[in-house]
Amino acid sequence: MGNWKLKSAVHRTLSWLPHSHRWNALLQRHVTRGYFASAATFEAKLGCCRRHLSHLRRFGGRPAGGFAALELGTGSWPIVPIGLFLCGADRIWSYDLVPVLEPATLRHTLGQFAAAIHAGSLPRLLPELQPDRLAQLTAVIARAGPETPAEVLSHLNIHVRIGDARHTDLPAGAVPLVFSTVVFEHIPRTVLAGLLTEFRRVLTPDGVMSHQIGLADQFASFDRSITPYNFLRYTERQWRWLNSPMIPQTRLRLADHRALYRENGFDVVHEENVTGSAADLRSVPLAPQFRTHAFDDLLALYSWLVGRPSAPPHAQGRATSRTGEPSTTTAPA
Ligand SMILES: C[S@@+](CC[C@H](N)C(=O)[O-])C[C@H]1O[C@@H](n2cnc3c(N)ncnc32)[C@H](O)[C@@H]1O
Repeated sequence: MGNWKLKSAVHRTLSWLPHSHRWNALLQRHVTRGYFASAATFEAKLGCCRRHLSHLRRFGGRPAGGFAALELGTGSWPIVPIGLFLCGADRIWSYDLVPVLEPATLRHTLGQFAAAIHAGSLPRLLPELQPDRLAQLTAVIARAGPETPAEVLSHLNIHVRIGDARHTDLPAGAVPLVFSTVVFEHIPRTVLAGLLTEFRRVLTPDGVMSHQIGLADQFASFDRSITPYNFLRYTERQWRWLNSPMIPQTRLRLADHRALYRENGFDVVHEENVTGSAADLRSVPLAPQFRTHAFDDLLALYSWLVGRPSAPPHAQGRATSRTGEPSTTTAPA
């Protein structure tokens, strides 16, 4: 069983080194064993792909044919963008601050797709799978060469950009879908506000934002002695020292994310939460800043928050209700 405080201290030390993400990758590869996505993670990420797609279909302007998309936070395993390519995305721009996508993790991801093709499981995992896209992916998998991950993905029209997604080089109104998968929880409030402003700019007027947000203390999956609510016991000052600088967790709660959407020009049109154990939450003495939050809000471990650009203030009086009340589903963990 791991000790989360030790892990955080190691991350702090790594963060002082140049190219700290590379050192962290080595740690994940050789010690903590989180460098490659497991088979279960591969399937779960394709589940996220289905969700992003269904949010586009249900809440977007139903783009005819293919569609363009912007991803925040590529990460190490581009399973979701490749899945969206297979389901008809014509062009995806995927942004990350650092090049955590490495040749070895891309090879592994492509190997997972190859295994799923071989096993015949992709049509079940991706019901919108398009045969011509599958043929394109198969050709890319077969073409083992000395290309960089960005070059390999460009054959699937997935364009990896290293940089801050607050400043994309995309024209206004370029994409009907902006998505991210477990990224928002790592980003400070002020940066999120900047990202949402940029997303509002690049989205088509009837576009959709689909974000899966982790709300649990991620150290709990490493250290089984703590619950997913453990980090709520610490004040901001204490958390500054305990938080991992490599994979920081902001501890923003659902209400904070909803408010950020609203304040930056989005209506929440759909929300789906996965909640944990009330007994676990009750066992944690909450730091003062969390005591004012609704219990159910704190109970959420994951949330899907789907947003659409809100009508500009001058149009709101005469707008027919385009968004209505958010639909909310709560599923057990
Ligand atoms: C948890 S990882 C992404 C996981 C990935 N989406 C997945 O499903 O496996 C979060 C990533 O977001 C990136 N990120 C954080 N802030 C960003 C920003 N402002 N612009 C672009 N990428 C950012 C981080 O560098 C990090 O690699």
